[in-house]
Amino acid sequence: MTVLSWLWLLSCAPSQLPPRHGALAFEAVDAFEARDLERLRRRGEALAAEAWGTDELQAAGRLLAHADDTRAACVALGRLAAACGACHDAHHTAPAAPPGRSQVSELWRALALRDDGRWRSAAKGRSFLHVEDWPGRAAALPRYLWATAGEGRASWRAVGLDRHMRSHLGAATDAAWFVARGQLDQVRRRAAQLQHEAHPALPEVLQPFVPPMVEAASALASAQTIPEAAAATTTLARRCASCHEGASASVAVRTDDIQRLQLDPDGDHGMAPYLLWTSLLVGSDLAWREGARALALPPRRPGTEALRARYGELVTRARSATGEARGDLWTELLATCAPCHDAGGVSLDDATL
Ligand code: HEC
Ligand code: HEC
Ligand code: HEC
Repeated sequence: MTVLSWLWLLSCAPSQLPPRHGALAFEAVDAFEARDLERLRRRGEALAAEAWGTDELQAAGRLLAHADDTRAACVALGRLAAACGACHDAHHTAPAAPPGRSQVSELWRALALRDDGRWRSAAKGRSFLHVEDWPGRAAALPRYLWATAGEGRASWRAVGLDRHMRSHLGAATDAAWFVARGQLDQVRRRAAQLQHEAHPALPEVLQPFVPPMVEAASALASAQTIPEAAAATTTLARRCASCHEGASASVAVRTDDIQRLQLDPDGDHGMAPYLLWTSLLVGSDLAWREGARALALPPRRPGTEALRARYGELVTRARSATGEARGDLWTELLATCAPCHDAGGVSLDDATL
């Protein structure tokens, strides 16, 4: 190492960085998880007074010291992690620390320690947190902290957000079914029901998820062809699912639907797509697997050999599809329904909706 690089290191190394300088912040995160705001504020005061800290870190400490509700605590903890992260970044270090007690504290540590692998593994299964850059991750973390704090939930119920959501489910599912039936005028009518302003009960942190959903609904409403409409249902389902993930909303698929299919060894050609669709909306792996298995029953009167072969190929692919590939497969599958029913002279009556 040259003299110059030693000098460079000395000038960049923080002076008097105390051993275990992250401890106070880790304790603040634990206090947050224990919902002990008093303890959290005291850690904030101490951090704001630490002489080794950067301006950013001290500002985050002051924010924490004045956090008088959960929302404010989430924002302050996000700022704090970003401040720790910025200094580690400036010193090209991604320090290690023992595992946190929960997913929340793992995510916090990943951001503060600039540990990319740690972030990826803690964010697994939550596409809402699949953000590549650190500023984006710093913005997502407070929202996630707030959502997992669970305070929103009671107020959602009180104003009937669950009812509102069930009507979303009805409109979106009907729209997909009309795509399967090739009736684009009906698709338009159902998709229009989803084009609305944000529900007043929706917490501020979830408001940004509404416009993308509405945009997907209008794309669905203006689709001119079946394949276009099929692709639009997939985008819509992904947008519903991303808000559910962001809110940590517990949206369940009805287990009796799954059980019904499990009881039918031959599968159920009509019911299976419904299960695949709901699996996309709520991210249920079980619903997808059972739906894919139940698709297998070949229709008795295939429209044409080509359509039957195509269907068979999609059924095979559905069984092994994971992650994003499931949505893509759904797009292709939904576009096959109407052409094959038309070719086979099958008409689905309203009872199948
Ligand atoms: C002024 C810059 C700076 C700030 C601010 C900073 N760190 Fe560090 N941190 C470093 C440097 C440089 C290292 C690596 C050298 C070392 O281990 O002392 C490090 C190492 C660490 C380590 C591993 C070594 C140890 O002491 O345990 C942890 C954990 C840590 N930082 C956590 C944090 C947390 C949490 C915050 C925010 C509250 C934070 N750091 C803020 C510069 C900083
Ligand atoms: C802006 C965020 C957001 C968007 C967009 C969204 N949801 Fe929801 N959804 C929620 C939240 C939050 C809950 C949890 C409500 C509760 O627990 O009371 C929920 C719950 C649900 C439920 C369960 C309701 C029940 O019975 O408890 C269903 C079904 C649902 N959503 C379907 C949909 C569908 C379909 C779409 C898209 C067309 C959609 N949601 C779009 C936030 C959203
Ligand atoms: C390869 C041709 C073909 C494809 C592709 C196809 N179907 Fe069918 N479907 C049929 C035939 C033929 C029937 C009439 C019943 C039978 O012969 O099994 C039928 C019947 C149905 C029924 C009536 C109830 C039942 O189970 O018999 C529903 C519901 C249904 N299809 C939904 C769908 C949906 C949704 C899709 C797209 C995801 C789809 N089908 C794709 C050929 C097909």
